[in-house]
Amino acid sequence: MSFPLPPLTQIPPDVVALTDYEPLARQHLGEHAWAYYSGGAADEVTLRENRTAFDELKLLPRVLRDMRGGSTRTTLLGQTLEFPVLLAPIAYHRMAHDDGELATVLGASAMKTGVIVSTRASVMIEDIAAAAQTHLWFQLYMQPDREFTKTLVRRAENAGYQALVLTVDAPLTGIRNRLQRSGYRMRAGVEAVNLRGMAQPDLTPRMAGENVAFGSPLLDEAPTWQDAEWLLSFTKLPVLIKGILSPEDAEMAVQRGFAGIIVSNHGGRVLDTTPPAIAVLPQIVRQVAGRVPVLMDGGVRRGTDVLKAVALGATAVLVGRPYLFALSVAGAVGVAHVLNILRAEFEVAMGLTGCATVDQIQKSVIWQRESHP
Ligand code: FNR
Repeated sequence: MSFPLPPLTQIPPDVVALTDYEPLARQHLGEHAWAYYSGGAADEVTLRENRTAFDELKLLPRVLRDMRGGSTRTTLLGQTLEFPVLLAPIAYHRMAHDDGELATVLGASAMKTGVIVSTRASVMIEDIAAAAQTHLWFQLYMQPDREFTKTLVRRAENAGYQALVLTVDAPLTGIRNRLQRSGYRMRAGVEAVNLRGMAQPDLTPRMAGENVAFGSPLLDEAPTWQDAEWLLSFTKLPVLIKGILSPEDAEMAVQRGFAGIIVSNHGGRVLDTTPPAIAVLPQIVRQVAGRVPVLMDGGVRRGTDVLKAVALGATAVLVGRPYLFALSVAGAVGVAHVLNILRAEFEVAMGLTGCATVDQIQKSVIWQRESHP
């Protein structure tokens, strides 16, 4: 498969932050794949605000605290995480790098970071599991053929995946104007290999007005809470639900037995003008009230972002596009590098806010503007 530029064998010395990979990734991916990975829905308001909402939160340093024995380690569903970050599920890694998900899990394994493998992975999930030496979870898009869905879940269980993540916020492809304008076509030779035999959503950009939803098989066969209950009834694995923004939906998920909630707007790719995930997080945390862990994703680019999310009640965060961009530029080494930067930044942020352990990261690290009567 030919890419616009082959992956680098060495990371340029001026790549020191996650966003430094973006201009390089654009060259390595080419315009179509860049539009696919970097874009969001419609006017990309949510995509932008996922970022700006983090920047608007200000941190309050604390000084002269005893930091001996400090650590970024934490636990999630009984698993130890080196720091509270996992790689978000992203489709088709082979569009970014020839080795696709195999390179991703290699990089993540080097940093002992968990990976959530997409239903639309471009490598067989068994092969990914065989290559991984880290926690692996499987992200599930419920398929219209429920028996096929069950087989997929059994395959993930048998391959050793430790949890499932049911993504519920994308029963339809959003209005993707940037993709439409780019004239995007899927790269030849890349496909959702684990879904062979299933009808796939057509990502080819439509003409304006062609995005019909009601009456389409996509919406008619979209999963419901009943299907979610069915999944919970037969799998042996803990199941988290991804794509929750409403406290009412969080409550319904907890009551049905989901093992965790992932607050997410799908990186701003589905419904534009939804609130940024970090802004919604506190309401969901309040509703869930410690019954299950709450995670979030969308716009995490700095260790300070991880700290802010943890301060607002997240047990961990997922990071999406940055690792994919690094994968396109430098393969497994790029993925490990992104995680290393993020972990180091998180550690510095903990140190400068006086938090020796992840448990000590409380809401008080976020500065509150004094309210005048
Ligand atoms: C995604 N995301 C996603 N989510 C999911 O549950 N299954 C999937 O297959 C995909 N595929 C996918 C492709 C691409 C190109 C992107 C950018 C995103 C959403 C992803 O898991 C996550 O929610 C966001 O990417 C998080 O936002 P950031 O970190 O990219 O800002």
